[in-house]
Amino acid sequence: MAGPAPAARLDPMPFFVRSSLEPALSAILDALGGARFKLPIEVNNRKVARLYTMAKRDQWNLDDRREHFFPPSREGIDINEWLGVCDEVRLAAARSFSSFYYGEHGAKIISAQLTCMAPTNESAKFLATQTYDEARHVEVFEGILQFIDRIHPMNPFLNAFLADIARTHCLVSKLIGMNLLVEGLALSSFRTILANLKGEVNVSERGYRAIGEPIEMILRDESRHVGFGVVLLPDLMQGLSRRRKAQLRLRQLVWLGLIYGSVKYHQADQEIMGLDYVQLLEDVLSDHERRIQECGGDALVSTERMKGLIPTMDRLVDAVSRREHRAPQVPLPA
Ligand SMILES: [Fe+2]
Ligand SMILES: [Fe+2]
Repeated sequence: MAGPAPAARLDPMPFFVRSSLEPALSAILDALGGARFKLPIEVNNRKVARLYTMAKRDQWNLDDRREHFFPPSREGIDINEWLGVCDEVRLAAARSFSSFYYGEHGAKIISAQLTCMAPTNESAKFLATQTYDEARHVEVFEGILQFIDRIHPMNPFLNAFLADIARTHCLVSKLIGMNLLVEGLALSSFRTILANLKGEVNVSERGYRAIGEPIEMILRDESRHVGFGVVLLPDLMQGLSRRRKAQLRLRQLVWLGLIYGSVKYHQADQEIMGLDYVQLLEDVLSDHERRIQECGGDALVSTERMKGLIPTMDRLVDAVSRREHRAPQVPLPA
């Protein structure tokens, strides 16, 4: 009687197949891989590590305070009477706050890009918290705008400013654009708006609770984001070539021009609200210059040079605004 059939023997893969697969597999791994998932865990910059610790400690959740800020529904509420303002002021505020909303959206996207480009472990962790902060800031302006009016179309200068920062592949440029310029603009704008709500606009107490208090919470996060740029940039700017510094100056000149256009675009709304847009711009520029000096770098553009461009920028912004008003308005989807 025949014994059990011998176990099927698997022939080893013929050598010529293995040798032809190896380069292909290697090429697939190279094509799919290449990312850097591990950064050295030693802390490179203790100030950045401390900011990350503060960021974890200071996280807040709008859901915990939403009903303290806004009524659950606008139904049955006379919104002007509730806020203590007239229609004209409320709509001017909604148009201006729509730029804050888009600014926070842009900040969320650019912070996410920076998280992937961060040079050290502690800076990557901090930038992950910044991305989350910006997502929460978007949520706050969604809440404010839905309560006071709606989200208006985007300011074209702000669009160009944020899109160009998002587009740049250079870490130093993106960090200057995001953590010094976008964050600096946010800090100055939010401080001005908070003073204005209590001053010229004289919003009701519950109106300030709905708009001012959430912006105060955002302001604390933005201060941390600016601080991060100021402590990390000196490390990155060391040893930049003269040519590279000249490129940075040029890019900032364009971005400062777009900031100017972005603020001046809302001139009519700011006048309705009793805001001085020229003062706001001067604050943005002088704060920027001070922070550049704190970074210990001369790679950036001076306020004096920027002020020289103001008449040209005024003409450009007026021309774009006239074109915008002639163009048919495309409503945003509800
Ligand atoms: Fe923000
Ligand atoms: Fe921010």
